[in-house]
Amino acid sequence: MQTRRTVLIGAGIAAGVGVVGYSLAPRHFAPTRALGPPPSMGEGKTVSVRFPAAERSTALPCFGDRTLPMWTFAEGAWPPIVRLNLGDRLEATLENHLTRSDEATSIHWHGIRLPVDQDGVAYLTQPPVEPGSTCRYAFTPPDTGTYFFHPHCDTVEQLGRGMVGILIIEGDETEPYDSDTLVVLRDWLVQPGANEFDPFFTVVSAGRAGTYGPLRSTNGASDPTIPLPASGDCRLRLVNVDMTRIMQISIEGAEAAIVAIDGHAVTPFALTKWLLGPAMRADVVIRTPRDGGTVRLIDSSDQPRVELARFVTAGAPRRKTEFDPAPLRRGTVPEPDLANATRLTFVLDMTEAGKAIAALAAERLPATAAGFAGVDVGALCLSRASFWTVNGRTWPEMSHESQKGASVTIPPLASLERNRSYIFEWTNNTPFSHPVHLHGFAFTVLSASKFARPVHVADTVLLLPQERVEFAFLADNPGNWMLHCHVIEHQESGMMGYIRVA
Ligand code: C2O
Ligand code: CU
Repeated sequence: MQTRRTVLIGAGIAAGVGVVGYSLAPRHFAPTRALGPPPSMGEGKTVSVRFPAAERSTALPCFGDRTLPMWTFAEGAWPPIVRLNLGDRLEATLENHLTRSDEATSIHWHGIRLPVDQDGVAYLTQPPVEPGSTCRYAFTPPDTGTYFFHPHCDTVEQLGRGMVGILIIEGDETEPYDSDTLVVLRDWLVQPGANEFDPFFTVVSAGRAGTYGPLRSTNGASDPTIPLPASGDCRLRLVNVDMTRIMQISIEGAEAAIVAIDGHAVTPFALTKWLLGPAMRADVVIRTPRDGGTVRLIDSSDQPRVELARFVTAGAPRRKTEFDPAPLRRGTVPEPDLANATRLTFVLDMTEAGKAIAALAAERLPATAAGFAGVDVGALCLSRASFWTVNGRTWPEMSHESQKGASVTIPPLASLERNRSYIFEWTNNTPFSHPVHLHGFAFTVLSASKFARPVHVADTVLLLPQERVEFAFLADNPGNWMLHCHVIEHQESGMMGYIRVA
């Protein structure tokens, strides 16, 4: 029995629905197999983890021989990784030891469909976790796939200093791949030789594309060499935990297919170039070359392009047939009823201050973040850093503290009726790209006017400049759910709001 979602995805690929200027016809292989049957919930054990969030002087391999004052959720390897089987319940205890910096914090489980009181948005869904106190989260993730978590409180500095973890929910494979490798991508806001990070928020970058970290990293290392089995179908879980950079991902030296987006299975399609914005994930299967071969993961978002990781193969060949990667199991996200869906429009734009920054930037500003320091932002009459709007509204003030009592003082961007289906129609009226994230749901991306993509389920969707995007979902999860750009400086300078489902 085909579900609506498999039909949509199939139609998207065959008929080019929502696909402009780019053919999704596979370049190297023709997928022959439909998604597998949905995964079954395991018997459901409880997995308990402890996250003693603290400042830790840390020497990641990419830092060379220096240590930097990172803030992390746990001691040991960065980032911490939680692996569950579908059906397992996670009990996570966050202890806030950020006493020196006196930082309140929280954990948001990005992309997980959970009860709103576990969503971890300080002030909106829970009180902030003050220094010296603890908070316990408990929930059973309903979907398989690749997820991550991060604070939702002074995110720009806390994520900037390294507070992030990976959450993987197993049970989605129809037949085992030959390996499973996590590839965590991010930049660090630190200059060569410096022993402290650069400022995480600069007014002028916040009004443009955001601040790019000069130090790139993959799994905390600079262009690491990662061993993989030879002639195998190898799963790479790409996670962009950067605050700013929209990576343009490609694979060299191997055939590659995307099999999941934001954790959710998609009928495999050839990976040629894929835009992976902040918070976005892509599960990729590559057919590795023979023993001694090399495969490169490339980001060409910038010139010159950057090699993010190098995979070297070893051992006897695992597979001899043509590349036709096993699809994952079909997800169980409830399907929106498109015929009866309510359509709501959302427009991303800039405030007058934001437009002034953007215009000034284009004419006079040097291209590096360091160059912005000399600009007299006061001359632009900025009373505060509110540069971005959603439907003409900017999130009041920079800090999440303005969410204090948000349910009373800040009205939602939209009120949704529980168990109705909605189509959100987005227009990006700014000259910058925005990865838009909705908490609490997984939505189906139906169409996009610029960057070609198949119809797929996601929790974050990228809008290129002037792009129009539609996504749909069933509003089955009651609560106040954040909706914001995941370029964190944009989020912190106004591009944020929430919807209410009741
Ligand atoms: Cu990943 Cu509101 O965030
Ligand atoms: Cu943005």
